[in-house]
Amino acid sequence: MVDLAQQMRRHYHASVEPQFRQQHGRAPQHATDIRQVMREDGFFKAWSALRYAAQQQTWWSVQPQVERNTAAITAEAAAVARRRGRGSLQLNATLPMPRDVTAMDIHLMPGCFHTEYSPGDVSTAAMYWHGTAVFSAGLKMRHNGGGVARSIAQFLRYSRPEFKPRHMLDIGCSAGNQLLPYLDVYPKLVGHGVDVSAPLLRYAHARARSLGYTVHYSQQDARELDYPDGSFDLVVSSFFLHEQSPTTNRKVLREAYRVLRPGGIMVHMELPPADAVDPYYNFYLDWDAYYNNEPHYASFRKFDLATECAKAGFSAEGYFARRIPNWGTVRESEFAESARGERPAPEHGNGASWYIFGAVR
Ligand SMILES: C[S@@+](CC[C@H](N)C(=O)[O-])C[C@H]1O[C@@H](n2cnc3c(N)ncnc32)[C@H](O)[C@@H]1O
Repeated sequence: MVDLAQQMRRHYHASVEPQFRQQHGRAPQHATDIRQVMREDGFFKAWSALRYAAQQQTWWSVQPQVERNTAAITAEAAAVARRRGRGSLQLNATLPMPRDVTAMDIHLMPGCFHTEYSPGDVSTAAMYWHGTAVFSAGLKMRHNGGGVARSIAQFLRYSRPEFKPRHMLDIGCSAGNQLLPYLDVYPKLVGHGVDVSAPLLRYAHARARSLGYTVHYSQQDARELDYPDGSFDLVVSSFFLHEQSPTTNRKVLREAYRVLRPGGIMVHMELPPADAVDPYYNFYLDWDAYYNNEPHYASFRKFDLATECAKAGFSAEGYFARRIPNWGTVRESEFAESARGERPAPEHGNGASWYIFGAVR
């Protein structure tokens, strides 16, 4: 196997950076400096074209199977929902779709998250579920294992043993993949998940019920939740905020603050901010903003997370931001030490660690 991304980094340091220094009399300081030279570079153009094609094929590789099976999986999801069982599903057919979702097919997925092709449709969810499995081939922890959620839940268990959440909310929960592991780690926890996409919620509900989890899924806009103040001990999201505009994110943080009880904890797993990584990695991460229909990606990474949490109402003392190891990648004893701040987490990249930030209300 050839790791083209690593080779491109080496190529950058060996050829492109020295040229930049020569021309400008200084080292590149920002992702934009690097992008300016790399976008003209043959290696980058070839890598970028391959990556774009791979992203498209992620979806195309599963689309025919999903389309052939849409009637069957839609009927199955409806049948599971009709049966008496745990948890609930509340849909709102009149909920307006946010422009962040409808403006373009995010990460090139046909139909984005929300499109419904027939009544009760779950095909968009099946596309997302199986497509992300293909996308994460080398990173299984991101997919079926719900590795982000498992890592955050274990991080909380080890770093705050006194914290025993009973009600949690996952914002932008999609198919619930990064929600269920919290319920494994905290067996008394009742899960709630909100998303704007009905297909994803139908799929999430059928899956949770089939697996015996109690989760209440609800079609809501995270900018304006219908839960009363102080409803939750824990509010989480993963891979969500970088897809939203700064205005949306400010509203989401305010809502998270409102629905948390005093002493409750908010945790978001996200891309590392621009000031937490070196300029080349910044440039590398920002690829999605330019070529993968993720227009807010770069601006999110410049968001001042501590200031925005404070503006949402959280106190500065309660704020935290850090990397945590992926649960399962390091030994449990190392994970525990890292969670307690006694050793650093692995560097970000290839799923070895996750960047999280949050606050105690
Ligand atoms: C990248 S996915 C999140 C993936 C999921 N958290 C996971 O880790 O598997 C973003 C999700 O947010 C949902 N979404 C986007 N805007 C939203 C909003 N304003 N309110 C609620 N959900 C939203 C989308 O429908 C989509 O399912």
